[in-house]
Amino acid sequence: MKVCVIGLGYIGFPTACLMAKAGHNVTGVDISEERVNSINNGSFKLNEPGFEELFTSAKKNLVVKKSPEKADVFVICVPTPLKNKAPDNSYVESAANAIAPLVEKGNLVILESTVMPKATHESIGKIIENKTNMKADADFYLAHCPERAFPGNLIFELVNNDRIIGSDTEKGKELTKELYASFCKGGLLLAGTVTAEVAKLSENTFRSVNIAFANELALLSENLGINVKDVISLANKHPRVNIHAPGAGVGGHCIPVDPYFLIHGQNAPLVKTALEINESMPEHTIHLLKNALHSAGKSIEGAKVVLLGAAYKPDVDDARESPAEKLAEILISNKANVVVHDPLVKRFAYPVVSDIGSAVEGADAIIISTAHSAYKSVDWKNMKEKMNTKPVIVDGRNLLSSAPPGFIYKSIGNPVK
Ligand SMILES: NC(=O)c1ccc[n+]([C@@H]2O[C@H](COP(=O)([O-])OP(=O)(O)OC[C@H]3O[C@@H](n4cnc5c(N)ncnc54)[C@H](O)[C@@H]3O)[C@@H](O)[C@H]2O)c1
Repeated sequence: MKVCVIGLGYIGFPTACLMAKAGHNVTGVDISEERVNSINNGSFKLNEPGFEELFTSAKKNLVVKKSPEKADVFVICVPTPLKNKAPDNSYVESAANAIAPLVEKGNLVILESTVMPKATHESIGKIIENKTNMKADADFYLAHCPERAFPGNLIFELVNNDRIIGSDTEKGKELTKELYASFCKGGLLLAGTVTAEVAKLSENTFRSVNIAFANELALLSENLGINVKDVISLANKHPRVNIHAPGAGVGGHCIPVDPYFLIHGQNAPLVKTALEINESMPEHTIHLLKNALHSAGKSIEGAKVVLLGAAYKPDVDDARESPAEKLAEILISNKANVVVHDPLVKRFAYPVVSDIGSAVEGADAIIISTAHSAYKSVDWKNMKEKMNTKPVIVDGRNLLSSAPPGFIYKSIGNPVK
């Protein structure tokens, strides 16, 4: 097939490479000149196992440029962020506008981006219909094939995960299945477009609600004087229970975002409450910090507080929607002096220090905001020597099993005596 992939980001570029490797004639398109140039001059890097080999094996069937061209299949993989807690479809709509003049009878348009229910038809189908006088699902075909690959194991999951193939016509399903079957080893699960959209959103919303429950258990445990870690590990021994971990906040571009897409314009009290609970956790973390500083005879105002971890999850360099940003904001609004340390993150809303020793020099408190593996082997005796008297640790990830000697230690869901 001749395939045109629009949006060569974290998902779109490896997907374009997999299609090219499978033998399709692929044109990859990105509006970012920097992205296009870096791919074409070979300097583009994706820190994912197997990416280099994939890129090399895709090259002979892959052309990368800034504007789309005619194809049998168009695959849209552009960002779908939130704007003021509402879905921002503007990237999807601008991609639809760009391909509309090129879409011909019998073509297939696939949306891979995560979108709010009905957006495949309302954002993409309608734009193409209006610009071409063709009818979606009659003259050209529409499909939604949401992506669920996991950063850190992306290439493996793109190939091996089951895929939802959402289309409202038999022909749309058949064409889409043919394309994905050429590079996916997972099951190809057929559905209608709206069912596919809602199924994708349900996956991360399920995780958001589960984390909110864990956070609520953590707050209850603090009141009851027990450790939420013990509660969850015992409860999870039940063969049909899987409670996630509580913490200082939920980050990343999926779990804090997708529930807002699902509930947009809907009455969804459970999901709304879950979002509120999760979004209150950075504030709760600072509440624990204030209590700990109070025990040390200090105030948050003027205290030097080090955030250990800017990444939204352990051992990645990605800080998108990271709770660390919210923690830093609250600390600054309380007039604390904030230093952010992260061994991996380079791009963050605040400057990031990579040397932990200099970060904690003269600090009053540390908040563990990301459970990076590197933080499991910190020499706390050495940290204590660098910090001010009566140093504080607030463990926002329940990373440490007990309070390091000489520290005032607070942990989410664990009212340490
Ligand atoms: N990253 C993930 O792990 C992941 C997982 C599941 C689903 N998704 C979804 O996949 C979609 C893409 O995410 P991503 O992480 O690849 O995003 P990204 O930000 O890494 O990449 C998007 C790319 O699209 C380009 N772009 C934007 N508008 C364009 C346009 N009109 N024409 C051409 N290019 C355009 C940008 O320049 C960028 O290079 C999103 O909807 C996201 O929610 C991502």
